[in-house]
Amino acid sequence: MKCFQGSLEASQGNPVTRVDSLPRIAATVLGNTLQCLPPLSLARSPARPCAPARATPFPHPPATPSARAAAASLSSEPPKPVGSSSSLVYLAGAAAAGVGGYYFYSQSASSATPKVFTPTKEDFQKVYNEIAGRLEEKDDYDDGSYGPVLVRLAWHASGTYDKETNTGGSNGATMRFAPEGDHGANAGLKHARDFLEPVKGKRLPAPLFFAPPRSNTNPIIIAKFPWISYSDLWTLAGACAIQEMQGPTIPWRPGRADKEAAACTPDGRLPDGAQGSKHLRDIFYRMGFNDQEIVALAGAHALGRCHTDRSGFDGPWTFSPTVLTNDYYTLLLNEKWHIRKWDGPRQYQDKTNGLMMLPADYTLIEDKAMKPWVQKYAKDNDLFFKDFSQVVVKLFELGVPFKERSERMTFKPTNA
Ligand code: HEM
Repeated sequence: MKCFQGSLEASQGNPVTRVDSLPRIAATVLGNTLQCLPPLSLARSPARPCAPARATPFPHPPATPSARAAAASLSSEPPKPVGSSSSLVYLAGAAAAGVGGYYFYSQSASSATPKVFTPTKEDFQKVYNEIAGRLEEKDDYDDGSYGPVLVRLAWHASGTYDKETNTGGSNGATMRFAPEGDHGANAGLKHARDFLEPVKGKRLPAPLFFAPPRSNTNPIIIAKFPWISYSDLWTLAGACAIQEMQGPTIPWRPGRADKEAAACTPDGRLPDGAQGSKHLRDIFYRMGFNDQEIVALAGAHALGRCHTDRSGFDGPWTFSPTVLTNDYYTLLLNEKWHIRKWDGPRQYQDKTNGLMMLPADYTLIEDKAMKPWVQKYAKDNDLFFKDFSQVVVKLFELGVPFKERSERMTFKPTNA
């Protein structure tokens, strides 16, 4: 395990002071505490002042009142700081987390010259591995994996892009805020955002001896990768989930910065499952995609399922919703679909009544320009994987102002 010391510059511009992993944490905490306590022996020892806590808040509290109000409604908000009386409880928690391999981040305790932390491919591979390792942690979640909902999170973060105004897209991760997090199309994505929260960071109140009570709003961060922006984390998680669910390699690059609530996109930028091909074209052409790309992207519906409490629709598209294949296209073409008789919204059902298609899926075989692509992908899984990878890379990069010559990285799947 690599330990970092000194200050880091988070990719979203947040300076963070990172104080070593557990043995050093324990030593530092104990050392600082002992320095602050009165000497136990009667022999007089020279008084040593406690090291002043240096405040380098992470993440930065929002600057404007409106941003503060919005941050207060973060839909994946970490626990709020509580009174200092619980400091020791949290300290114990911090130590326990350290044992589990967590790093300990604090805004105090280092007076060293801040160093800029520039994450390398190896650092991003570690984030990838962390996400991959947790995908099936709670096997009672849905079909046993968080993979599909992570793909949907990355897609919904990216799919708000508007090429005319160059607004929306994955850069900003504005779905953290109401109103965007509350848009009907994003229902259920809190599961994905909450799943990723501990990968980035957990805010805990500062114990007394790290920061005096007056700065109790400056939390200690216990986290593995607080330097990654939410926007990078969400898209990296999407790429990771696709690869881990046996999909193609999804090259990915960092460079997204989180934005404030003011950058939330208006409702209505994501597609409506109840509609047909005209609507799909309106939505996806706005992002800069063509018909072939729409059909290739829709192949993601080989994964996951619809939930009545999220979209109102119900059921999976394929029999293997945690493995990416071209089954979506073969089933769409070869099954006999009928309208489901139920109280819910209009959706298609196969003869086993175990699978479903949205009207927006079924329209791909009703539309003359789109159907040939469904046929091609149904016949040729390699072609689907090649085109799917290309179009997902494009989707995740819409509107992101990458640095010139920034290079894409490919990550090694954990099951390779
Ligand atoms: C073509 C237009 C699209 C429409 C109308 C659409 C609509 C929907 C709907 C209604 C759901 C069910 C949500 C729920 O109830 O949990 C869903 C789930 C999903 N969508 Fe799409 N989607 C579209 C395109 C895409 C694209 C482009 C991707 C990714 C590249 C994608 C990936 C997914 C995944 C993985 C799920 C399953 C999520 C889960 O299991 O929790 N979809 N989609």
